[in-house]
Amino acid sequence: MPSTALDIQAIRKDFPILQREINGNPLVYFDNAATSQTPQLVIDAITKYYSYYNANIHRGVHTLAQEATEAYEFARKKLQGHFNAEHTHEIIFTSGTTHSINIVTHGFRSVLKPGDEVLVSAMEHHSNIVPVQMLCDHTGAVLKVIPMDEEGDLILDTYRDLLNDKTRLVFFNHVSNALGTINPVKDMIQWAHDTGAAVLIDGAQAAPHMAVDLQALDVDFYTASAHKMCGPTGIGMLYGKEEWLRMLPPYQGGGEMISEVTFEKTTYADLPHKFEAGTPNICGGIAFGVAIRYLDAIGMQNILDYEDELLRYATKKLLEIPGMRIFGTSSEKAAVISFNIEGIHPYDLGTLLDKMGIAVRTGHHCAQPIMDFYQIPGTVRASFSFYNTNEEVDVLISGIERAIKMLL
Ligand code: ALA
Repeated sequence: MPSTALDIQAIRKDFPILQREINGNPLVYFDNAATSQTPQLVIDAITKYYSYYNANIHRGVHTLAQEATEAYEFARKKLQGHFNAEHTHEIIFTSGTTHSINIVTHGFRSVLKPGDEVLVSAMEHHSNIVPVQMLCDHTGAVLKVIPMDEEGDLILDTYRDLLNDKTRLVFFNHVSNALGTINPVKDMIQWAHDTGAAVLIDGAQAAPHMAVDLQALDVDFYTASAHKMCGPTGIGMLYGKEEWLRMLPPYQGGGEMISEVTFEKTTYADLPHKFEAGTPNICGGIAFGVAIRYLDAIGMQNILDYEDELLRYATKKLLEIPGMRIFGTSSEKAAVISFNIEGIHPYDLGTLLDKMGIAVRTGHHCAQPIMDFYQIPGTVRASFSFYNTNEEVDVLISGIERAIKMLL
């Protein structure tokens, strides 16, 4: 068992789904990078909202509306504290990281001009590539790619060479969903700022695993998704520095985001409401706040330390399997392992593992350029959370060994 301050068996009892059996075997859930599981107190918060104080927010004078508004804004405050944003109004509730990114890339349509440059990294999720391609198509800006090496580390010398006075926006993930690489975000932000570029970071795969201090990073925009952080789907966060959020136009028009509307002219609401058109995912926002409090109670440093031990144990055991190749071997990794076994298609292995109750993701992980880089169709990906154990890793290892006997 990893040496940890955490009582993992007690933590596992918080997650009802971990009691499930799949195909007659205890569930081993190693698809946490796709979505994390949900603790009972988050499930209870969702039930309580709909059973007790379901109402629209920021609109009604009645008790339910006030209670719902208070709970929703309390959750925003919890996010601000957790991520150490300077102001609560710098936290925008969104439907998730993809929505958050599109708010920024859409906003930059009014900032960029032809010939400006936008950098993305070679290890991005499609949600980071496609919106900036759309931005560049719209504005005539030029998209450039920060390359990576065989280990799955960004080539930082080339990044520094790419930065110049035409670079207006730099966009990369904090942690790669397909490789697990933890990028050196603080330095990368600093270098971008030195040339006057703004920085957008996709934090979807980092925020579940480590403390993120937005003020210490000095990042301009940062995103996270609740469903990877023990919260529900359909809710996430965009953090933006106040001056940027004031400058960028709203992404969507509608109710809630206005100050005054006439047929001649509309003025927009103040932050954060300017970016929250329409009735939001009220219950989701409240539940996101509860999930954040749950993670804070466990402690992000404890989570990071524990998952790092799991990662090391799993890496060592996997590498003992003949034909094993791990993609993403950076010295700085979150608890994600992408791998293939020589002669076995990832889909076949994933399907057999599911028969044994083991949930992994197979395929290109919405990161086709990474697969092209390694010239592979896809990988098997085991991604861990703080409720996983070394014993579950052992189940994965013997599952893979059984599958190899069946497939080779
Ligand atoms: N982006 C999620 C993943 O990597 C869905 O699986």
